[in-house]
Amino acid sequence: MSTDSQTPDRPAPRRKLFIKTYGCQMNVYDSKRMADVLAPQGFDTTDTPDNADLVILNTCHIREKAAEKVFSDLGRLRPFKEKAKSKGGDVMIAVAGCVAQAEGAEISARAPFVDIVLGPQTYHRLPELVARANRVQQKSNGRKTAVIDTEFPAEPKFDYLPAPRADGPAAFLSVQEGCDKFCTFCVVPYTRGAEFSRPVADVLREARGLVAGGAREITLLGQNVNAYHGETGDHSTWTLGRLIRALAEIEGLARIRYTTSHPRDMDDDLIAAHGDVPQLMPFLHLPVQSGSDKILAEMNRNHTRDDYRRIVDRLREGRADLALSSDFIVGFPGETDADFRATMDLVRDIGFVQSYSFKYSKRPGTPAAAMKGQVPDDVSTARLGELQAELDRQLRSFNAACVGKTMDVLLTNPGRHAGQMGGRSPYLQAVHVDAPASLLGHIVPVRITTLESYSLGADLLDAKAA
Ligand code: SAH
Ligand code: SF4
Ligand code: F3S
Repeated sequence: MSTDSQTPDRPAPRRKLFIKTYGCQMNVYDSKRMADVLAPQGFDTTDTPDNADLVILNTCHIREKAAEKVFSDLGRLRPFKEKAKSKGGDVMIAVAGCVAQAEGAEISARAPFVDIVLGPQTYHRLPELVARANRVQQKSNGRKTAVIDTEFPAEPKFDYLPAPRADGPAAFLSVQEGCDKFCTFCVVPYTRGAEFSRPVADVLREARGLVAGGAREITLLGQNVNAYHGETGDHSTWTLGRLIRALAEIEGLARIRYTTSHPRDMDDDLIAAHGDVPQLMPFLHLPVQSGSDKILAEMNRNHTRDDYRRIVDRLREGRADLALSSDFIVGFPGETDADFRATMDLVRDIGFVQSYSFKYSKRPGTPAAAMKGQVPDDVSTARLGELQAELDRQLRSFNAACVGKTMDVLLTNPGRHAGQMGGRSPYLQAVHVDAPASLLGHIVPVRITTLESYSLGADLLDAKAA
């Protein structure tokens, strides 16, 4: 296999690239952008590591389990490499993302067969890293060290990335990265670096390109997406609310979403946008983590339970059908039964339609890891079970209440059988509709008819649309 970087006058030989993505939607976006960066080098993506020339694991460091998974997956990849070598070839293995950023040296030590380690801010340099790794291999023929690039470059990677290729009716667009909030449990400020917003013009250009390529829905991404403060040409900055209003002007862009937002950054303009901008979908992921003011303070979330309640009330004043989702952590150090009860009360009080909940995971280098009052695992497990049962009940009752209702569904993919399409409701529910494949990318009115475990079945309403 040759992995030299290509000269312009020589067409690139086709090679296979397999990317496995762990973690959040930002990583999903990054994986796609890595494929965009490598496409001109002759890499076509494939959905299996068999016969791949380059395998990238785009990793997540948020909880211990997620981080450890990478090492077990690396163990599974080793035979692929050995098999390729026994046939006189090679498969290059790269570890990217947040584990790479946090544990670059450890990866090299624990998995010496890894060729490249790169962080979330350096993947625009992948062609050069692949070429360097190839040279390392050719030189030493024996034990070699990985090529590591986990810098936080002064110049943002976005300035070097090619225009993204549109990829279906629902697209992601990263507008903000990094985090300066330093919640005491969280590794993101260390793995992703300081908060950064992409300039308004870049975001609008990328959005127009995605829409021209067939996107009908765009989800704006950021670790703290509503902390967005993108520069305009005249040295002023726009908030996320302002950006959403400008995006809503793009012809053909029917749906706008954003994630993940922080309660502290829900400013008046953004709250108002939920009432004023019809393209902004009535579904918001707004992590609260805990319902106890004491725990929220220890987490450094910088808001109280009542602040959260008030934000939700104001959002619902503007948009009565707003559905909420959230993230929760149980078993944070010092969490008592009373603190956990406060979380359960908040969940019942607000009513969520879909949520993520986790046992607190001690992360190296974070302040909470050194806090007193670490909660025993069996206590956390019991609390998580109780919380998840309630969240699941809320999810099911929301879905059940949708049966009989009409709503618009964006058809995003073929369904489970011929004549069926899969799509998403305004509330991000998965919906299966009997509809012809020609309607892919269309937003169609449906009546919800059936409730399945975690999806809905629906009939197409407008025969004309078909
Ligand atoms: N920026 C977002 C969250 C990003 S991380 C916010 O501020 O809400 C995604 C979720 O992972 C968090 O909301 C939190 O619920 C969970 N999480 C982060 N660190 C964790 C840890 N150490 N243990 C358990 N869950 C964690
Ligand atoms: Fe992590 Fe807190 Fe930043 Fe969210 S706001 S990414 S939880 S430090
Ligand atoms: Fe994980 Fe990094 Fe996202 S730690 S949650 S992949 S920002």
